[in-house]
Amino acid sequence: MPKLTFLGHACFLLEDEGKETLLFDPFLQENPQAPLPPDQVKADYILLSHAHFDHRGQAYAIARAGKGMIITTADIAEDAAEQGLNSHGLNIGGKFNFPFGWVKCTQALHSAGIAGGVPCGFVVNYSGKNIYFAGDTGLFSDMKLIGELNPLEIALLPIGDNYTMGIDDAVIAASYLQARTVIPYHYNTWPLIAADPQEFKDKVEAKTGSSCVIIAPGKSYSY
Ligand code: NI
Ligand code: MN
Repeated sequence: MPKLTFLGHACFLLEDEGKETLLFDPFLQENPQAPLPPDQVKADYILLSHAHFDHRGQAYAIARAGKGMIITTADIAEDAAEQGLNSHGLNIGGKFNFPFGWVKCTQALHSAGIAGGVPCGFVVNYSGKNIYFAGDTGLFSDMKLIGELNPLEIALLPIGDNYTMGIDDAVIAASYLQARTVIPYHYNTWPLIAADPQEFKDKVEAKTGSSCVIIAPGKSYSY
């Protein structure tokens, strides 16, 4: 059974018995929500949605220490490779098979944090189930297509507003994606992105067919 652990802000660890471990957007230093320092986190694959400090975080150090592979946009992958790291570049719409399953790179409406780059999200097929990590993004109606093409067990959505969708847009995103379960992130790290996850949960469960699970930093959800 896959286990998803929330490490605060936009960082998730995905693991399953006998499978490779995946880490998303590891911002674990100077992150008031991080339950663990970066040297206590190991992963076989590190997925990076874009290069802002609160997403690329300590990805390079974790990849270097654990000989992990960074899966990210082509521009960040090139930067990582120039620094001697093992990386795999994808671009929007592209999909690739890895030993654990496939990863498809999806669009995100945001800025990239690296010259010439684009931000992205990912649909990841892991242990036979699809999980969508939206990255940092505003709402876009093609989320309908993401949900139609890849029936989703879980959709991870930012709700903190200011830099990404806020609660009401993320509820519309949930209605487009039609995942079985929706999980919020990118909120309450700083006052600028304060949001009430219970308000999000109440609205998702009132207005969509999805259920919503709130994972506190350091806690896990198995599905
Ligand atoms: Ni960002
Ligand atoms: Mn961010």
